[in-house]
Amino acid sequence: MIMIMYMKKKFLIGGLIVIAYILITRFISIEATHSMKVQPPVICTIDNPIDAQKYDFHIINRGFPCEKIREIHNQYMVQVQPIIEKKCLMCHGFVAKMPLYAFIPPTSWLIHHDQKEAKEYMDMSFGFPFKGTGSASEDLETLRDIVRDNEMPPLQYRIMHWQSRLTEDEKTVILEWIETGLKRLEE
Ligand code: HEC
Repeated sequence: MIMIMYMKKKFLIGGLIVIAYILITRFISIEATHSMKVQPPVICTIDNPIDAQKYDFHIINRGFPCEKIREIHNQYMVQVQPIIEKKCLMCHGFVAKMPLYAFIPPTSWLIHHDQKEAKEYMDMSFGFPFKGTGSASEDLETLRDIVRDNEMPPLQYRIMHWQSRLTEDEKTVILEWIETGLKRLEE
């Protein structure tokens, strides 16, 4: 009996230490250092190569017209990027400040693993067009499904960041941007 009580106490103390660790480290942020960001090539088409100077992305002549991609990009930067930066970029891109637990094992391993996997699926470091697995329109469709069904951020992240879930207003902004973009690409 005493043994069981002793064991329970040990678990309780262990649990409290874990909770305290997450709570404390979650609120301390550290300036993150990143390796040089290199703009990825953008798959879009322009008729006149001289026009390439008008765009601040590196162009490969393939896919949708660059003019359409740029319009969607501009709207993204104004309306959607601030939301994505706050709630998604810690895994899907770069953020200036990272929570302390992202630097201390074992939580740092989990975060690094998530970041690596998240970017393989969809790298949003450079805004739209994303470095995803599909074309510009396929990436928009994937993002639409994920946002609509509240599938991101992953549960373990939401537990540590209670306000990381997208609000209904934020979802509306993102989904409207996606619908406008998809229509624009279909024109
Ligand atoms: C804690 C890290 C983390 C955060 C924060 C996060 N994601 Fe993800 N995301 C992942 C991982 C890991 C995957 C890989 C697939 C999976 O686990 O479902 C992923 C996959 C995705 C995919 C691709 C899914 C597919 O089937 O191709 C999309 C789109 C996405 N996330 C959107 C978002 C959005 C939008 C946000 C912010 C609201 C967000 N993510 C926040 C880790 C994260």
